[in-house]
Amino acid sequence: AKVADRSQAVLNFNSISGSLTDAVSIPSGYTAQVLVPWGTPLNASANVWKNDGTNTSGDQLNALGMHHDGMHFFPLNQQSTDGLLCINHEYIDQQALHPNWEKYAERAKDVRTDIDEIRKEINAHGISVVRIQLENNHWKLIDNDPLNRRYTGATVMDLSGPVAHTELTTTRFSPDGSQARGTLNNCGNGYTPWGTYLTCEENWPGYFTNTGMRTKEQDRIGVSGVGKYLQGRYKWETLAGHDDERLDEFGRFNLAPTGNSSLDDYRNEANGHGYIVEIDPYTKNSRAKKRTALGRFRHEGCTFGKLEAGKPVVFYSGHDSRFEYLYKFESNALWDPTDASPSNRLDIGDKYMDDGTLYVARFNEDSTGTWLPLTLNSLTMSGDTLASQFNSLAEIIVNTAGAADLVGATPMDRPEWSAVDPFTGSVYLTLTNNTKRKDSTNPANPRLNNKFGHIIRWDEGESPTEFNWDIFVFGSPSDGDEKTNRSGLTDLNQFASPDGLAFDARGIMWIQTDNGADEVEQYTNDQMLAVVPSQLLDEDDKQVVISSSNQTELKRFFVGPNGCEVTGFTISPDYKSLFINIQHPDNWPYSDDATEATPSGTEVRPRSSTVVIRREDGGEIGV
Ligand code: FEO
Ligand code: CA
Ligand code: CA
Ligand code: CA
Repeated sequence: AKVADRSQAVLNFNSISGSLTDAVSIPSGYTAQVLVPWGTPLNASANVWKNDGTNTSGDQLNALGMHHDGMHFFPLNQQSTDGLLCINHEYIDQQALHPNWEKYAERAKDVRTDIDEIRKEINAHGISVVRIQLENNHWKLIDNDPLNRRYTGATVMDLSGPVAHTELTTTRFSPDGSQARGTLNNCGNGYTPWGTYLTCEENWPGYFTNTGMRTKEQDRIGVSGVGKYLQGRYKWETLAGHDDERLDEFGRFNLAPTGNSSLDDYRNEANGHGYIVEIDPYTKNSRAKKRTALGRFRHEGCTFGKLEAGKPVVFYSGHDSRFEYLYKFESNALWDPTDASPSNRLDIGDKYMDDGTLYVARFNEDSTGTWLPLTLNSLTMSGDTLASQFNSLAEIIVNTAGAADLVGATPMDRPEWSAVDPFTGSVYLTLTNNTKRKDSTNPANPRLNNKFGHIIRWDEGESPTEFNWDIFVFGSPSDGDEKTNRSGLTDLNQFASPDGLAFDARGIMWIQTDNGADEVEQYTNDQMLAVVPSQLLDEDDKQVVISSSNQTELKRFFVGPNGCEVTGFTISPDYKSLFINIQHPDNWPYSDDATEATPSGTEVRPRSSTVVIRREDGGEIGV
């Protein structure tokens, strides 16, 4: 990168100590407010959140979902104090969601029996869109705002791109294969240059089961249906019974063919899941669209590459599972900057996200990489083309991971979020950990039993199929030996299991962690760190990686309460309000002040929440 292409941001806070409390921890001079915890009503159709788990499925349909994850702030009227927050709800904690769930083991051992209970669980999944405003230094949700809404595990959505309108997606519910119901396990997120939200369907396969014979594709992706996973993750399918309505509502989670054709059953139901889903937050009642061209797998995040007028729009997305791959989608349409403020945003999504080429990454020994296209004429490792195994692009996409196996992609240590440096265009990807890497490393995943994870980065090359990569930082306990602590981390920045990752427009990269290994967790809960990568240079002005000589540039900004993961990142356009999510805390929040610890001996019903960080003097965050 040229010097002119570098961030001028200078981090202006002291790295904070690790923390092990039921409170969040931030640098001095900052405040942290709890905003929109699980169960907060969006409108008058929901009763107030009750501390005993007795809210109904109808309340949950009109209130914030559970387990907040990725999110994005969409300003209204170009304001930094008024906007729409889109929030993912990854999964649920049945113990917190329902009253008396301790008896779960007895009540739900074999089959689920309570319809409202399952509806509530489905409604606690998905996305919330909420209008928020800053007033007197305090963010609040605008109750009953017409743009407030939920997309749940049952909301009707359009399918778009190569898999839509094919026999792979025909179901009783959607005989023409044009629609799917619900979005599940929405973990990471993205957003588009044209003002829409992208939500990523991650661990959806386990929600489905096939009590008959799993297909090759279902086996590859890990749909339930064998051994101890004979039932779906929450056993929703067990409520189907023989009644037609229940079959439609809950039986759809069982993919076993029950009739003569796919129009009689839900064998194709899961083919409507596993995608990047686009939502136009600014348009009420607009249906979400599943962008199938970007591949079908456990999408963690979805990040667009640095935009250039007249060049394709590129999206990156990792498949978060051990030994899975990194993908890139490149649009056929070339970027037209006037598309950044369209009258119909989802039309622009159609233009850039439905037609293009999906690639999977191979990381070579010599710091180069190759993007391998996934098309019918792509060469496989055995010298055939993918056309020898697949009949259509739609078939390739439905079994994206299986096609990627055949072309020789590099198995990674759980690709999570990616982020793009707004100055240099370099792309960063968290590889959270992989304790099952027992006997074969590869250059991009060089540690056996990778408990602590790392962050890899790359620059696109001259052609769409080339890139150059290096490893930016290795997670490690500060007392790890040389082989482990390869980046020279100290007590003030040791971390493990990098997961959430984001750049703000000033060039600051924010790194969030999920389930740090014991060696780090004995010193600190999950956290968020900051660094300005484009300022890390050697004598020749070449960008370098984190090492013992510059590791102080990686600073710990935030530590979450006990038991949580820190995930989701967005910042207001004026950089004065930074939003992150606390997912699955043990015993928090205690009050509106996120830094107030739950007193020992007090037990609160845990609620995932957004936390808004501001500066006491009203200045920009981090600098
Ligand atoms: Fe839901 Fe890959 O974290
Ligand atoms: Ca994650
Ligand atoms: Ca994770
Ligand atoms: Ca999580």
